[in-house]
Amino acid sequence: HQAKLTLDPAFTIAPVRRRTFGAFVEHLGRCVYTGIYEPGHPTADDDGFRRDVLDLTRELGVSTIRYPGGNFVSGYRWEDGIGPVAERPRRLDLAWQSTETNEVGVDEFVRWCRKAGVEPMMALNLGTRGIAEALDLLEYCNHPSGTTLSDLRVVNGSKEPHGIRMWCLGNEMDGPWQTGHKTAHEYGRLAAETARAMRMVDPTLELVACGSSGSSMPTFGAWEATVLEETYDVVDYISCHAYYEEHDGDLGSFLACSTDMEYFIRSVVATADHVGARLKSRKKIDISFDEWNIWYLSRHQAAERRTDWPIAPPLLEDRYHLADAVAFGGLLITLLRNSDRVTAASLAQLVNVIAPIMTETGGRAWRQTTFHPFAQASRLAAGEVLRVEPTAPTYETKAYGEVPVIDAVATHGEDGTTLFVVNRSADQPVSLDIDTRALGGARLVEATTLTDPDVYARNTADDPDRIAPRPNPDVEHDPLRVLLPPVSWNVIRLA
Ligand code: AHR
Repeated sequence: HQAKLTLDPAFTIAPVRRRTFGAFVEHLGRCVYTGIYEPGHPTADDDGFRRDVLDLTRELGVSTIRYPGGNFVSGYRWEDGIGPVAERPRRLDLAWQSTETNEVGVDEFVRWCRKAGVEPMMALNLGTRGIAEALDLLEYCNHPSGTTLSDLRVVNGSKEPHGIRMWCLGNEMDGPWQTGHKTAHEYGRLAAETARAMRMVDPTLELVACGSSGSSMPTFGAWEATVLEETYDVVDYISCHAYYEEHDGDLGSFLACSTDMEYFIRSVVATADHVGARLKSRKKIDISFDEWNIWYLSRHQAAERRTDWPIAPPLLEDRYHLADAVAFGGLLITLLRNSDRVTAASLAQLVNVIAPIMTETGGRAWRQTTFHPFAQASRLAAGEVLRVEPTAPTYETKAYGEVPVIDAVATHGEDGTTLFVVNRSADQPVSLDIDTRALGGARLVEATTLTDPDVYARNTADDPDRIAPRPNPDVEHDPLRVLLPPVSWNVIRLA
């Protein structure tokens, strides 16, 4: 295959948003317990946090972390997770049929965030709870001192306020699986009144209303319209969640799953702008794509339901292969390309649970295949996002019709220009001509590729670097031409 594109710093979309590189830590399976927190682990620090996971989190380049759920949050009582650990209650977690020990709560989480160098982003329980509890948590976290709740935080060891800027008004309230699931109207009213009250405490907070749990939800579109009609003036973001998997060996459709994400984003932007027009508002609502990933959800749904209420059981521990990483790369490219309206995102999740980082309880930690596209993009995407308009052959997919064989985006900043590009072809390399004439003599610094002859090859604790970015040997200079192997994620840097 032959393809071409142009790198031109004049064709900007929007600035690269650091918050695009957020992730998510939920009290789910082994994400918190034996993921970020495992006292007694050989690498545990004084707070019981795994240093190996902290190091990998920094290397991943995560900007924000959404917490504590997810479906978990819709039954969560935040007060259970503060104060002396030995006195904290144990509770049933209905979302994941587990027992929650509450050893980690908001104070531990914020302490962990400071160590990891990430911004905490808090989700509120609008399933079983409401405005009063949201205000209590806000006061506990953000008020400096001098009130019962803020002084309690100080007594609990956090003298400085947690200073949490971004708050999610509930989680996936459109989903019938959600504890306290609501209609769009019921939720829209509750979210609006919660937001209004929170803004009385601090008008500068950044608030996220729940959008749809996926573009295939029966209420998709109508949900966003109704929720935004109620909340438009008091929220900043509407959320999107999307997970993709390969169905029935249909690799071609799977590698093109970002087609759905693109459609999803465009539809939500159109809906939000339509509501804005009807309300005669100049304000624009942005998207917080606060759950996205590859997730073999159908396997989870087919698994037998446990009835023994375990503590931190291994749940949703998907092991990602090369094709997953390439589909994942397409999703990252799509998020970046939509940086004019997608100004925050959270990869769901960070560790063990559908995650780029895996751990053994008591043992090793390693990078899954999906770790690499995320880490490279987070490290190298800087400055402005550029529109690159590739010309490429197409192929036919069952799920999305004809799609281009490559997908690409670039960023341009002080340190140079970086092109991110996936080749979705299952068996053909793509010879990509890159027009760099507008870059004023910039030269190739590095071209890497993430690929493998076996598209289903994975990284394991014993072979952790089987899939990792390697220098691309097939590069021609002047004019620049790079051969993209079949099923590959590629990064090309010029300066
Ligand atoms: O990330 C796993 C789950 O996916 C989250 O708890 C929920 O919000 C979504 O359905």
